[in-house]
Amino acid sequence: MTQRVLTGITTTGTLHLGNYVGAIRPAILASQEPGVESFFFMADFHALIKCDEPERIARSRLEIAATWLAAGLDAERVMFYRQSDIHEIPELTWLLACVTAKGQMNRAHAYKAATDANLAAGEDVDAGVTMGLFSYPVLMAADILVFNAHRVPVGRDQVQHIEMARDLAQRFNHQFGRGNDIFVLPEANVEADVALLPGLDGRKMSKSYDNSIPLFEGGAQGLKDAIARIVTDSKLPGEAKDPEGTALVTIYDAFATAEQRAGFRAALRGGLGWGEAKQQLTALIEAQIGPMRARYAELMAHPEKLEVILQAGAAKARALAAPLLAQAREAVGLRAFTALSVAAPPLKSGKTALPVFKQYREADGQFYFKLNDAEGQLLLQSTGFASGREAGQWVARLKQEGAAALELAPLQPVSDPQATARALAALLDAAT
Ligand code: TRP
Repeated sequence: MTQRVLTGITTTGTLHLGNYVGAIRPAILASQEPGVESFFFMADFHALIKCDEPERIARSRLEIAATWLAAGLDAERVMFYRQSDIHEIPELTWLLACVTAKGQMNRAHAYKAATDANLAAGEDVDAGVTMGLFSYPVLMAADILVFNAHRVPVGRDQVQHIEMARDLAQRFNHQFGRGNDIFVLPEANVEADVALLPGLDGRKMSKSYDNSIPLFEGGAQGLKDAIARIVTDSKLPGEAKDPEGTALVTIYDAFATAEQRAGFRAALRGGLGWGEAKQQLTALIEAQIGPMRARYAELMAHPEKLEVILQAGAAKARALAAPLLAQAREAVGLRAFTALSVAAPPLKSGKTALPVFKQYREADGQFYFKLNDAEGQLLLQSTGFASGREAGQWVARLKQEGAAALELAPLQPVSDPQATARALAALLDAAT
């Protein structure tokens, strides 16, 4: 069976060279493997919780869509869409929210970080926390489950979210699946050897460190200027340089063949000047990024073409999501009335007699219950309880949970476990 691999990209900000090397390039390569069905989407609903500037949101999702296509993503081959075009996603989010324990969401990293910061600052725990931030993992679970994705390549920081998605899938299947699994349990794929591109100063390349090399922004000149700012030691041309561990060489490696890497190192050891090395690096990257930048400019100049591609992508994706959502709706009881009248059990005429629970008090002052079958044969006998309420609670549990509660309930040894399980199932059936 083909494996469904799904990746969401939150559409805030602009992409840099580190995003290309660490995420875009490996994901596009992976999408070309046989036996893999890839899903790429702009997580623009998720973007809303990080950004309240409509213009920036609009621009970022356009830029990011154009970037992926310019970098070589084949929209014919993969599923490529905007999250907000898939109406099944917010609908599934609600169905999932209804099986989500709030206590579990309290432990989600993003929410926990916000509340911890609030407490540290002496503020109200939930100051500035929106329901969007709080429910983030449920929306993310819907992104994944709505396509029954098997694998989700993510960074370490997202692993908890995938585990939550898995958990929600399991809970939904258990509560509503009636023995059939509606949702696939997704797995996080943490790429251990994802190339982490260093920034200009040698730390991880990141917008927040202001050390990034833009991917397309600023054109060829922007690339050249950024590379000129890469920090090196102050050795002069002609002096031998140690290439290992320098940001310049690590960035070079990310774009070079094995041969080029060896040649570049040898040249630096032999005294190649940093200025000249930077020119070589610029040329190497430009040869790969330049053609993409031209495609990017073309797409950005014609957003209506992108719109057509993404609308087609949404239609293709929704054709997969809709039947699954229909199944989930059906499972929770949101059914067409016509189907209901057909599927409804026939009105009970010759009612079969049901087993009966009896509660009573003994001469010892304790409270008891027992279960008799329709013929009055004893199936279950409780031990004594101090209060009638307690006995009643166990009766209620056995009625609601059936045989699942048998092991927990304080009972005398059960003489005919099978008949007892059948009797409890009959009660459960009659009640629903
Ligand atoms: N939360 C992810 C991030 O910030 C983006 C994302 C949203 C995502 N929905 C997803 C990733 C579903 C994988 C699957 O990186």
